[in-house]
Amino acid sequence: MTDQNHNLVSGDFQQEEDHHEYSLRPSRFNEYIGQQDMKDNLQVFISSALKRKEALDHVLLYGPPGLGKTTMANIIAREMECSVRSTSGPVIEKQGDLAAILTSLEPKQVLFIDEVHRMNRVIEEVLYSAMEDYTLDIMIGQGPSARTIKLDLPRFTLIGATTRTGLLSTPLRERFGIPLHFEYYQPEELKQIIVRSAGILDVQIFDDAALALGKRSRGTPRIANRLLKRARDFADLKTDGVITLEIVDETLTRLGIDEIGLDRLDRTILNQIIKIHGGGPVGITTIAASVSEESDTIEEMVEPFLLKSGLIRRTPRGRVVTERAYEVLGLDPPSSE
Ligand SMILES: Nc1ncnc2c1ncn2[C@@H]1O[C@H](COP(=O)(O)OP(=O)(O)OP(=O)(O)O)[C@@H](O)[C@H]1O
Ligand SMILES: [Mg+2]
Repeated sequence: MTDQNHNLVSGDFQQEEDHHEYSLRPSRFNEYIGQQDMKDNLQVFISSALKRKEALDHVLLYGPPGLGKTTMANIIAREMECSVRSTSGPVIEKQGDLAAILTSLEPKQVLFIDEVHRMNRVIEEVLYSAMEDYTLDIMIGQGPSARTIKLDLPRFTLIGATTRTGLLSTPLRERFGIPLHFEYYQPEELKQIIVRSAGILDVQIFDDAALALGKRSRGTPRIANRLLKRARDFADLKTDGVITLEIVDETLTRLGIDEIGLDRLDRTILNQIIKIHGGGPVGITTIAASVSEESDTIEEMVEPFLLKSGLIRRTPRGRVVTERAYEVLGLDPPSSE
């Protein structure tokens, strides 16, 4: 049991991440750049929960990958002055696994469930009464002699994170009192994130270089940090480690990232829709197959940014490229053919 528990939960958020990414991760609200409305609201909810000495209501964090959901969950726990237990939807295999985690929580503790949309529906049902009434119904025995007993749980806070709120069941979604949607970041905000990270990594970067990186980071802090590290690699070779605008340009060109942050996969997808499917409409499965990717990956990582950038549109019959997509790819739009 204990061993199993070790696989299911861990006391921190480092899990799959290297030390560097961890060190770049803000640990308090004042280091967390952007998502201002979300932060303002959360600070109110947190200070009032603290004042009442109650657990914070359950929080759902949703939005595309790399926008700071895990980071935010971590910060919330810290601001609530409580510890956090961390697990993820797909690793919970049985109702009993989840019951074991829930019954071992301390009052006001945060339980963080990453990829909460990938939890099995049967298992998820355990959460309904746990979230709403802080009780757990446990079945004992089988057949005619089976009965349920009710266990009281401590008042805890569930923080769920998901990239796909559409895949969350309605009963689960409705039990989160504080649903928070993550927006893509503005170039100026990403610039601030890059400057902050550069400070931590002890690299020098010019202002215009940081902004250029920010503009080409797909609105995503994780990508901004990654590109910063790659630019540092080139800078180490060429400019004694100082990241200039030229270094940024060279780095991004070499990585195949264009002026507006599209990478090769983004451009291949747009090209496929235009050249093979006449601009669309085309279904996501077809698109995914044509670039040998999973449709989940396309829907989670690629599509939201293309939608947000106004390069594709969703229609009932599938995805359609916009005129701007032709422009960005340097192609003639169909009307002028
Ligand atoms: N608002 C922010 N300010 C500064 N850095 C940030 C911010 N948001 C995210 N980051 C940085 O981006 C990295 C990725 O963030 P995080 O892991 O929290 O994203 P996520 O939304 O949980 O992604 P996924 O959906 O893939 O789990 C963090 O390690 C952190 O360094
Ligand atoms: Mg995460």
